[in-house]
Amino acid sequence: MKKRVLSGIRATGRLHLGNYLGAVKGMLELQDNPDYETLYMVADVHTLTTPYAVAELRQNRREVMVDYLAAGLDPNKSILFQQSEVNQHLELAFYLSSVTSIAKMQHLPTFKDKVKQHPDAVTMALLNYPLLMAADILIYKAHAVPVGVDQEPHLEVAREIARKINAEYGTDFPEPVRFATAGGYVPSLSGEGKMSKSVEGSFINLTDSLDMIQKKVARIPTDGGTGDLMSMPQGVKNLLQFFELFVGLDRRVELEQLYTGSGLRYGDLKSELAAAIFAELKPLQLRRVELEQDTAFVERVILEGAEKARAIAKETVSEVREKMGLK
Ligand code: ADP
Ligand code: TRP
Repeated sequence: MKKRVLSGIRATGRLHLGNYLGAVKGMLELQDNPDYETLYMVADVHTLTTPYAVAELRQNRREVMVDYLAAGLDPNKSILFQQSEVNQHLELAFYLSSVTSIAKMQHLPTFKDKVKQHPDAVTMALLNYPLLMAADILIYKAHAVPVGVDQEPHLEVAREIARKINAEYGTDFPEPVRFATAGGYVPSLSGEGKMSKSVEGSFINLTDSLDMIQKKVARIPTDGGTGDLMSMPQGVKNLLQFFELFVGLDRRVELEQLYTGSGLRYGDLKSELAAAIFAELKPLQLRRVELEQDTAFVERVILEGAEKARAIAKETVSEVREKMGLK
């Protein structure tokens, strides 16, 4: 029996390098591993957990699907779907809520961050975010979840819920684990915190041109170019991490040696890095242009993906209803 994999990204905009390295690269790796059956969704229902515009949601969920396809997620190898098309996720989330304490949800760091960001929009949907995510994963009895480090608290909730419902009702949900990639934590270009689409100036989008990438990389804060590794400023550390991710570990080590020796020339290095990032993104951008023309193909992927996902989701929900005494 193949092990299942489930992952998703909220439909809040175009994907950036953090999403790509932390989540999509892991999705690609598992899609090509014959030991796994992979399901990847656009988490459009999760978009409702923070303030959003209706027209943008419609647009964005399509953008995420097109980004997935452009990055190489393949409907012949993976089930690609939109979360809202499989409303069994919402039904299961409610059943799971009966074994989940409110206090646990309120104390999650991810919840607290969002409360800070949107103090006037602390809704039940926001509190229920991890519950719906647990339902997304458990409904396919997934073992592995390719996501970035920041999602770890949510996975912990999913594991706890799986344990609880198994113990109370005799279900057989596996405890899902994060599938980690080399880029599980991509830093912000600003030198502070992680790359995130909610922080302006922190990210590079997968659709950015070479010129835009150059301008953004140029803004990474640096120093005089020499010093010791222990007291290296965060911006320089981030720059070196980007070198490791896009050029290779050897180049990073070389640059660290230069930093403690004759010094780094940031102008040249930033051009080198921007070119390396663009080289990785260019094939995706070319595929994206083709996909944008082929709306019929994208529609078909969304329709067929939903049918396949629904078939599995229905079985799990039926089993849970039975075990919980609703059938
Ligand atoms: P954002 O913080 O930009 O809104 P999301 O929360 O929508 O990103 O994250 C979507 C996926 O991308 C998740 O799996 C998340 O862990 C991953 N991800 C987001 N930002 C980063 C980052 N800076 N480094 C690694 N992974 C990231
Ligand atoms: N919470 C994830 C994020 O912002 C998105 C998500 C929703 C997800 N449901 C999921 C990720 C299930 C993995 C599995 O990035």
